[in-house]
Amino acid sequence: MNSLPDLNVGLVGCGTVGSGVVQILRAHRDLLSIRAGCNLNLRRVVVRDLQKTREICAGDVEFTNDVSSIVNDASIAVVILVMGGIEPAHQYMRQCLDAGKDIITANKALLYQHGPALFQRAGHSGRTICFEAAVAGGIPIISAVTQALTANRIVSIEAILNGTSNFILTRMLDGRQPYEDVLREAQALGYAEADPSMDVDGTDAAQKLSILTQLAFGTRVTLENIVQQGIRQLELLDLQAAAELGYRIKLLATSRLARDRLEVSVQPTLVRADRAVAQTSGPDNIVAIVGDSVGLIRLSGAGAGRMPTASAVIADLVDYATGRAAITFRSVLRMQALPELPLQPREDLSRRYYLRFTVADRPHVLADIADILGRHEISISSVRQDETPDDVDEQEGVARLVIMTHRTTEGRLQAADAEIALLPSIRGVSIRLPVAD
Ligand code: NAP
Ligand code: HSE
Repeated sequence: MNSLPDLNVGLVGCGTVGSGVVQILRAHRDLLSIRAGCNLNLRRVVVRDLQKTREICAGDVEFTNDVSSIVNDASIAVVILVMGGIEPAHQYMRQCLDAGKDIITANKALLYQHGPALFQRAGHSGRTICFEAAVAGGIPIISAVTQALTANRIVSIEAILNGTSNFILTRMLDGRQPYEDVLREAQALGYAEADPSMDVDGTDAAQKLSILTQLAFGTRVTLENIVQQGIRQLELLDLQAAAELGYRIKLLATSRLARDRLEVSVQPTLVRADRAVAQTSGPDNIVAIVGDSVGLIRLSGAGAGRMPTASAVIADLVDYATGRAAITFRSVLRMQALPELPLQPREDLSRRYYLRFTVADRPHVLADIADILGRHEISISSVRQDETPDDVDEQEGVARLVIMTHRTTEGRLQAADAEIALLPSIRGVSIRLPVAD
């Protein structure tokens, strides 16, 4: 729109998210100009491999593999950095900040690792970093926590923050698809990280939860202090056993105040099937936040994928253009100065548990396990073992034993687990999952 001023934008990364950004900028050019109060001009796009065939055509935008062409272009005010990994993304972000550019990013691994230093760097030089797309894809959780909920003391966050693992768990149970096949599909759909172990071992969700916890509780929690467990060891039979008991298994990210201590965990967790978290399926994410004044708020939607993530990036760009982003970033910096909350030691986490053992199908096995649990004051709430056929040719069979416990501590269960693992009747991997309240 001719009467409006121009805002020149640089883009670093044009893969899943970056190509969505280009697509929205082109599709909604006029609408965005009106909302932003300026023309959003994409000046230059930096990629790694200029020979790659891309879904989007370059059109009037210059593609380059030289980031300095953005850093040294004084007409570019803001850089959208949507490449993954730590280096060279970290170096690029610092170069852009030092060159006086503001940043919009979706790179949560980078923010988790270097966020505090980068925020400080940006704060000192009057720059802004926006990161709506970094935590829950298309869900506007950063603006909710940093703007809409600021009247509240946050009491708890219970969330699904990784689209890939939620997609895998959903497809395994509903479609009876093998884990490896669904993971490949999640990669093809652009949900998974370049290294998908970040998704399935819980690291991506833990990094996002750390960012969210810092904003909501003013406390920085590192991965070493987050109880983290991935989904890789789960089998279809766990998902089915949980379903028969009235639950769904979700990779649940939890950050909550309990007796003035912060409990932070990312674990596959049994959630009652009628709860909204349990019904969040496919690549969707959900964030349920309890604030002391507002009560329970739930935000859900696409947590990964090209267009939903690009939607959050463009929202940041419009906020940046209107000046809202700078105001929010100053308040984010002020929130970093809140006193740190003490963390609940892992052993003191108190929950109910789902335990699954694969055992030799012979006498006294259940009694041995029950005895160990009892000696550690762990009370059993239910036991389930499917009928197995009589031994064929006198070969010993295996049985799967699912035990639900009453509330107990992680410390007691760890001690009991160590003893149970030594029983000669135990076969293969045992599974221990918490049950959400
Ligand atoms: P992607 O599809 O792998 O795209 C990465 C882009 O970065 C590619 O265009 C690549 O160039 C470019 N790139 C990589 N290394 C580079 C380098 N050294 N110099 C210049 N460009 C480089 O990744 P993505 O899925 O879009 O994810 C980007 C970021 O957003 C990651 O931090 C990710 O965690 C985050 N994120 C992703 C999603 C999602 O659903 N995918 C959601 C939220 C956040 P080439 O095209 O030439 O290879
Ligand atoms: N790999 C991430 C996920 C992308 O699956 O949730 C969104 O951050």
